[in-house]
Amino acid sequence: MIKFTIITLFQEALEPYLKTSMMWKAVDKGLAEFDFVNLRDFGLGPHKSVDDTPYGGGDGMLLRCEPVFAAIESVKAKDPDAKVILPTPVGEIWDQEKAKSFAKDAHYIILCPHYEGYDERILSIVDYKVSLGKYVLTGGELPALIIIDSVVRLIPGVLGGETSALVESFSDGDNLEYPQYTKPYDFRGMKVPDILLSGNHGEIAKWREEHSGKA
Ligand code: ADE
Repeated sequence: MIKFTIITLFQEALEPYLKTSMMWKAVDKGLAEFDFVNLRDFGLGPHKSVDDTPYGGGDGMLLRCEPVFAAIESVKAKDPDAKVILPTPVGEIWDQEKAKSFAKDAHYIILCPHYEGYDERILSIVDYKVSLGKYVLTGGELPALIIIDSVVRLIPGVLGGETSALVESFSDGDNLEYPQYTKPYDFRGMKVPDILLSGNHGEIAKWREEHSGKA
């Protein structure tokens, strides 16, 4: 069972996706679990504040250490082995290899920063800094969904592969970039290559290899 505990101020932005399609199926089959922690619950003062202005000046607000550490520690109190992922544009670029290495029985805590950034000392409680690409998003929620989706679909059984052979073919599929077609055979004069209707699996495999996008 893989578990993700997502620490966020915007649970409502994440929930619909995780309750849809494959993510929901993974939960339904008992292969994945998603849990939320509201960072606001650990906020400071009457306003439950979670951010403040940067020392040294500058624009914007930064996530403060106290609420973040308290939120993470509340999860780790129940599961000390849980690993913390921080989506950040200065993290290591996320790719298929990383997704594969995360797809195992484990409990991940994803901390979703918001506002302009976070206090650097937060990194001392983080295990993995993950960047989705060289662009800046307003928060960690979209990266969290991408990380979760790309990992959970690799868990055997999630995509419907009941046997290891099927599972294997799904993971192979991650690298296949050959053109694919479904019905109708002829759409507005654009026809499906006849080789794909030939029933000759050897020739089809060769055609796919030749037309694959990878070098
Ligand atoms: N937070 C803001 N931008 C991000 C990015 N590109 N990747 C991961 N987390 C982010």
